[in-house]
Amino acid sequence: MTNPKESPVMDIEAYLKHQHETGLLRFITCGSVDDGKSTLIGRLLWDSKLIYEDQLAALAADSKRVGTQHGEIDYALLLDGLEAEREQGITIDVAYRFFSTDKRKFIVADTPGHEQYTRNMVTGASSAQAAVILVDAHAVSRAGGLLTQTKRHSYLVSLVGIRHVVVAVNKMDLVGFDEALFRSITEAYREFSTPLGFSDVTTIPVSALRGDNVMERSASTAWYSGPTLLDYLETVDVEDERTSLPFRFPVQIVLRPDHTFRGFAGTVASGAVRPGDEVVVAASGTRATIRRMVTMGGDMDVAVAGDATVLTLDREIDVSRGDVLVAPGARPSVADQFRAHLVWMHAEPLLPARMYVLKSGTDTAPAQITDLRAKVNVNTIGEEPAKTLEMNEVGIVNIALGKEIAFDAFAENPAIGNFILIDRETNATVAAGMITHALRRATNIHWQAVTVNRAARAENMAQRPRCVWFTGLSGSGKSTIADIVERKLHALGRKTYLLDGDNVRHGLCRDLGFTDADRVENIRRIGEAARLMVDAGLIVLCSFISPFRAERHMARRLLEEGEFLEIFVDTPLSVCEARDPKGLYARARAGELPNFTGIDSPYEPPDAPELRIDGAAATPEEAAERVLELILRGTGPA
Ligand code: ADX
Repeated sequence: MTNPKESPVMDIEAYLKHQHETGLLRFITCGSVDDGKSTLIGRLLWDSKLIYEDQLAALAADSKRVGTQHGEIDYALLLDGLEAEREQGITIDVAYRFFSTDKRKFIVADTPGHEQYTRNMVTGASSAQAAVILVDAHAVSRAGGLLTQTKRHSYLVSLVGIRHVVVAVNKMDLVGFDEALFRSITEAYREFSTPLGFSDVTTIPVSALRGDNVMERSASTAWYSGPTLLDYLETVDVEDERTSLPFRFPVQIVLRPDHTFRGFAGTVASGAVRPGDEVVVAASGTRATIRRMVTMGGDMDVAVAGDATVLTLDREIDVSRGDVLVAPGARPSVADQFRAHLVWMHAEPLLPARMYVLKSGTDTAPAQITDLRAKVNVNTIGEEPAKTLEMNEVGIVNIALGKEIAFDAFAENPAIGNFILIDRETNATVAAGMITHALRRATNIHWQAVTVNRAARAENMAQRPRCVWFTGLSGSGKSTIADIVERKLHALGRKTYLLDGDNVRHGLCRDLGFTDADRVENIRRIGEAARLMVDAGLIVLCSFISPFRAERHMARRLLEEGEFLEIFVDTPLSVCEARDPKGLYARARAGELPNFTGIDSPYEPPDAPELRIDGAAATPEEAAERVLELILRGTGPA
C-alpha cells in the first residue's frame, strides 16, 4: 500500500470514492397504489425497524445512486454509468428508501407517477438488480386474467435489463387465500413472461396489509412452501453479475498532475482488472498493460465493477475522455450506427430528423434517429408502425452518430449498452435507450478522401464560399432580399446559388409538409445541400422560414467557423399578415391551412444572428445592401 499522502493524485479525491458496497440489493417495486404498493413498502420498512434515516447523508456523499428519501433525485444518480446529467438539473420523481436486515442492506426505488410513469420506472429500474412486481389477486380474479399494467411493468423491467423478478401476488386475504387462483396467476405470468427472458421468476402469495408472507410465513398459506418476500430479497443472488462480464472502463478524465504521472480516472463499468492485465483502447485498438490502480486509500490489487479508480499503464498511449479501456479478448463494437430500443421520456415528441446528443458511458456524440422502425405496444409486446414517439412510448430505432463510439449490445453487457438522448437546445434528457446491435453498413461506408479539396475549389472560384441563411416569417421579405443580394453578387462576378423554400419544396423536399417533424427534415436536407454547395466553392443563399433554433444551429455546425451567416429578417407578424403576398395568412386564419407559422405553429427567433434586419422599416434594397456588405467584408480573395 502506498501512503496516500505521497500519492501523486491527492488532488483528485473526488474521483476516488470507493463505491463498491457488498451485501447491498437495489430493487424496484412496480405497481400502483391500488395494488397495495405503498402498503408493502411501508411494511418492509416498518417491520425491519431499521430505516437508515441517519445513513442518508453518508450514502448521499458516498454513492452516486442516492438522493433524498422522499424528494427529488439527481438524474445522474440513476442511469448507471451515465453521468453529468446533474449539470442539466434534471430531476425525476423517484423516491429511494433504505432499510436493512441482519443479512443485507436494501435500497428500494419507489416510482410513483401516472403521466410520467414510464420515465420514472425506467429511471428507477436502471440501476436495480431485482424487481418486485405487485399483482392484485382480487383484481385478477375479477378481470379473469393478468392486467395490462402488469404486462407493461414487466416489459419495462425486462427492457432495462433486470433479470430477477418476484411477483408479489397481493391481497390474498381478499380472495380467501385461494390456492387455485394463486396457481393460475403463477401460470399466466410464466406464460406471458417467457419471451421477456428473465433468469428467474418467483411468485409469492402475500397480504401486504396483514403481513402474510412478507417478513413472516403465513399460517393461511399452508399450501405454499416457497420463500417469503423478505427471504427472497435477502437471498437472491445478484452479486457478481457485472463483475463476471468482460472488462469495460469508460475513461472519465485523464489525470496528469505532474510530468511523472499519467492516469485515467473512471469507474469500472463491468468485469475486473489486476495489475499486469492487458487492456485495449476500444476505438483505436492500441494495447497497454495495467501498471497500478490508484485510489485514495492506496493501490488496489483488483478493481471490479462499481469501483472508482485511477488506472496507470506501462506505456504512453493515446487515451482521452470518452474512450473505453476493454479486455483484449472480448472487445465491444465500435461503430457509428446501431439499432436500439428507445424509451421516449419527454413531453415534446420525437422529431426523427433532429440532431440530438447521445451520451453513453463517458462519451458523447451527435445523434440522429435515421429510422423509426416500429413502436412497441407494451401491452401485447407487439410492434406497430409509427411516425413519432410520444412521452412514455417505446420504439425500435436506427440511430446514426456523428462519430464512432464503443458499445456492447445491452443484452450482453448493459454496462456500456445503454445511452440517453439530450436535446441540444434545452439540455433536457428526452429519451433513454438500450442498444440492440451495431448496423453493418456503419462499417462499410467511409468518407471518400479527395485530392481536389474545398480550399482548392474556393481558390479556383476566387471567392470565399459562404452559406447566407435568411430566416423569418412567411411574408417577412426573406426571398425578396435574397434575390436582390444574389443579383448584386452575380453582377460582381461571384458564383452563387439560391435555395428557396417554395422552390425546394417542388423537388428535393417534395414529400414534406409543415408538421414540426417535416420542417425539421426540410431544414436538415437543405443544410446538407448547402454544405455540399459551400464545399463546391459557392456562395449559397438560403431562404427558409426555418422556425426552429435547433435546426438552424445544425446547419451552422455543418460549416466552418465564419462560413455561416444567419440573417434574421425580423418583420412583425402583423406586418407579414397585412402584406400576405400569397394570401396564405388569410387562408390560415380561416382554418384552411393548418400549422401555419406564426398562427398555429411556432417561430423561434435567433439569439445571435450575424445580422438582424428590421423588415418593417428597411426597404428590401437597403436590407440587401447590408447583407452584401456583410458577405464581402473580409472575404479574402475579393
Ligand atoms: S420551413 O418552415 O420548413 O422552413 P419553408 O421556408 O420551407 O418552411 O416553406 C415556407 C413556405 O411554404 C412559405 O413561404 C409559404 O409560401 C408556404 N407554406 C405553405 N404552407 C405553410 C405553412 N403551413 N406554414 C408556413 N409556410 C407555408
